[in-house]
Amino acid sequence: MAKEMWKPGNMLYPVPPVLVTCQNKKGESNMLTVAWAGTVCSTPAMLSISVRKERYSHAMLMETGEFVVNLPTEDLVRETDEAGVRSGRNINKWEKLHLHQEEGKMLSVPMISECPVNMECKVKQVLELGSHDLFLAEILAVHVDSSLLDEKKRLQLEKAKLLAYSHGQYFGLGKVLGSFGFSVRKGAKKKTAGTERKKHGSRRK
Ligand SMILES: Cc1cc2nc3c(=O)[nH]c(=O)nc-3n(C[C@H](O)[C@H](O)[C@H](O)COP(=O)(O)O)c2cc1C
Repeated sequence: MAKEMWKPGNMLYPVPPVLVTCQNKKGESNMLTVAWAGTVCSTPAMLSISVRKERYSHAMLMETGEFVVNLPTEDLVRETDEAGVRSGRNINKWEKLHLHQEEGKMLSVPMISECPVNMECKVKQVLELGSHDLFLAEILAVHVDSSLLDEKKRLQLEKAKLLAYSHGQYFGLGKVLGSFGFSVRKGAKKKTAGTERKKHGSRRK
């Protein structure tokens, strides 16, 4: 491969674009789209979101230290974009985007009813990094739409048709290419991505 070196920038793609809901002490709530979100710890279950100080939501996050991460689906792509280009300073995004509030169990921050997965989060630490403040938070509860569970209560997340975001564009997830550990599983078919790469002549010798 012939590569060009670019100046430092973030190219960690694709990522999940999430809808983060938050609320101030007066009980006014808002939402914003966040692409700089990440899984950071399994036990305790923790995630991070990076939010610029100038976002209307930032003050709410600082005030209560509580938020909900709501996972949008393909059919919410327009709402996901709009929540990320309009500010709650000027409009009520719940009304504008026709999204409905659902009560959580651990916090008073409303969850987005139309999103099939919601995580109630409590901020543990705020790190001022530069353009963004990183909110490190513990996940207090996960809510999953029961239509995504099979008869044994196993989550079939692929059914949710979640969104991906890559370098300014929204995508659906596409076909399943394998499952965790498939590459070393006994009896697994030998035809892997590597075989495909060979065919196209790009595999390292
Ligand atoms: C796809 C997408 C991803 C975004 N990711 C972030 C992010 O990670 N952090 C952030 O501070 N703003 C992000 N934004 C911008 C905010 O969502 C946007 O400024 C929003 O209007 C802020 O809303 P608020 O002023 O009501 O808080 C993103 C916007 C889009 C469309």
